Amino acid sequence: MPKRDRWDASNGAGAPAPAAHWDEAPRVRALIAAYDGVPGALLPILHALQEDFGFIDARAVPLVAEGLNLSRAEVVGVIGFYADFREEPPGRHILKVCRAESCQAMGSEPLTGHVLDRLGVEMGGTTPDGAITVETVYCLGNCALSPAVMLDGRLHGRVSSATIDRLIAEARS
Ligand code: FES
Repeated sequence: MPKRDRWDASNGAGAPAPAAHWDEAPRVRALIAAYDGVPGALLPILHALQEDFGFIDARAVPLVAEGLNLSRAEVVGVIGFYADFREEPPGRHILKVCRAESCQAMGSEPLTGHVLDRLGVEMGGTTPDGAITVETVYCLGNCALSPAVMLDGRLHGRVSSATIDRLIAEARS
């Protein structure tokens, strides 16, 4: 489901309801407080949330909005705009497939198709066993060794379908 549709479907108004009794609220408030007075703090806070939790929980949105004196819709809009922000918990392993120009020229599209077929997910999805989330990335700085992928922060270059099969098997082992 597209990001915006998911937000809209979940609450009917495009903005999550306040998180009244969420156990993680103090942790989120502390994280927001660390950026107190920092200009343009929204993006750094969202990145920090994702770094800390692995994704941006909808229950954090009202807290961020309140902390930065923004509307919840504004926060939701920024989360929806940037493909990098996850709105659901990721799998135990994250496989990023580069689809930028150099990798495209070296076959990243068929490689992406292979990845999605092997995992049985759509781009951005997580395998039903929670093992692997697959994401698109636009340049991993490894263009000389295109096509490139990154598994759990580790770069792999000149990646073939066989390489993908090996990486998936290793991640699942
Ligand atoms: S275009 Fe894929 S690593 Fe640069």
